[in-house]
Amino acid sequence: MKTSIPTSLRSTVLRKIKPTSKEQEQLSGIVSYLIEKIDATASELGLSDVFAQLVGSAARGTWISGTHDLDLFITFPEHTSREDLEKIGLLIAREITKEADIWEERYAEHPYINMKFKGFDIDLVPCFRVSSAASIKSAVDRTPFHNEFIKQKIVGLEDEVLLLKQFMSAGGIYGSELKTHGFSGYLTELLVIHFGSFGNVLNAGCNWHPGLVIDLEGHTILKHNDPLVVIDPTDPKRNVAAALSINKFSKFIDICRSFFENPAEEFFFSPPVYPLNDIEIMERINLRKSSIIAVVFKTPDIVDDVLYPQLYKMEQSASALLEQHDFTVFKTGSWAGEDSVVLLELESSIIPNVKKHIGPPVWLRKHAEAFKSKYKGSEDVFSMYIEDGKYVVDIQRKYPDARLLLKSRLSKCSLGKQLTSSVTEGFEVLEGADICRIIDVDFRVILRNLI
Ligand code: UTP
Ligand code: MN
Repeated sequence: MKTSIPTSLRSTVLRKIKPTSKEQEQLSGIVSYLIEKIDATASELGLSDVFAQLVGSAARGTWISGTHDLDLFITFPEHTSREDLEKIGLLIAREITKEADIWEERYAEHPYINMKFKGFDIDLVPCFRVSSAASIKSAVDRTPFHNEFIKQKIVGLEDEVLLLKQFMSAGGIYGSELKTHGFSGYLTELLVIHFGSFGNVLNAGCNWHPGLVIDLEGHTILKHNDPLVVIDPTDPKRNVAAALSINKFSKFIDICRSFFENPAEEFFFSPPVYPLNDIEIMERINLRKSSIIAVVFKTPDIVDDVLYPQLYKMEQSASALLEQHDFTVFKTGSWAGEDSVVLLELESSIIPNVKKHIGPPVWLRKHAEAFKSKYKGSEDVFSMYIEDGKYVVDIQRKYPDARLLLKSRLSKCSLGKQLTSSVTEGFEVLEGADICRIIDVDFRVILRNLI
């Protein structure tokens, strides 16, 4: 059974997300201005073989109205050394930033510049012009090949990509950054090319299973262990969907099905989520009758692609620490603003003082006597007895309170470099009503989905 998308819904959504011709002209104007400027700067330096190229969604007609993001590559001949590429690439880019409102140098695999100029968010990225995507010298060198492939195949399907990107953004699954682990722009374009339309992608999505392999060009396939494998047509060894997590993959299946149950605009423009107020927080805590704990510390000054993996790692490490000490962890979540918060929901933050510690069987004389002499008369022992032929002691638990456990042991867990520094400098552990002390609106918004 195949379900179609109501035509009126398509056009309502497209009217809101398709750039107007005025917006397109403005973008083209800025792009030609910058390209000319980069090329002129390169030739002034005597580099006639260095030139600019527009890549990404702006080059493919697959950008969403209002998102003014330009990916401008400064391309160097393949034989250029990496040092020269970085040095001269940045020299040219810095010349361009003279007109920028603000700019900063950023680091991916190699340095690039991000600048804000006339309302546009522009990346100036030096790259090598290699002969094929399989022989790249740096990760960004693939992008021009993606660009060529998509530009050839996407003609006539641009609206389908816009709808899919918008649908995924509203569902919180668009973006392959390490914060989101969702679908990249290139991936949405390949899905549209493969399935032929937005509606077809959604129809297929309803029945996806992890392990799905999509191979547009019929390349030989390497084994990938990802929920979705989309073989990069420009570099068959690579999975374009490598960054997609199992949860975001599943979320896509879920929203595809919900959409067909009730195809509505809210699947493209999600209604605003309001921050929880203090009363709502308290109501939810009282209803759940679990223990909700927030670990709060200063957010280190690092890019999201470094920060978020460390936050996710901290969720794991804090849970592992708690579980090792017999706490039951229901769920975790994290959020970063000026401060960062790792939220932990436990069955209970207080567990009995008494802990059962099972020793050796009585008949293993050597072990049994050692055990008995170790615990006999110890202050920490409530009682010693025999159960199923083994010595057992009921002893005082070292950490019956999860907050104290976190306070004394969290900074020694494996947390990632910058979070370790931040947590070592100091952190708070808040529980229950005290969570209301975190007043940041964005935190209160994500809290609505966590508790
Ligand atoms: P962008 O993240 O800007 O994506 O990366 P986009 O395709 O322009 O989509 P939107 O509309 O801005 O969201 C620019 C290019 O870098 C490569 C792709 O070729 C992409 O088109 N890229 C980026 C990847 O190959 N993988 C990624 O995870 C991100
Ligand atoms: Mn882009």
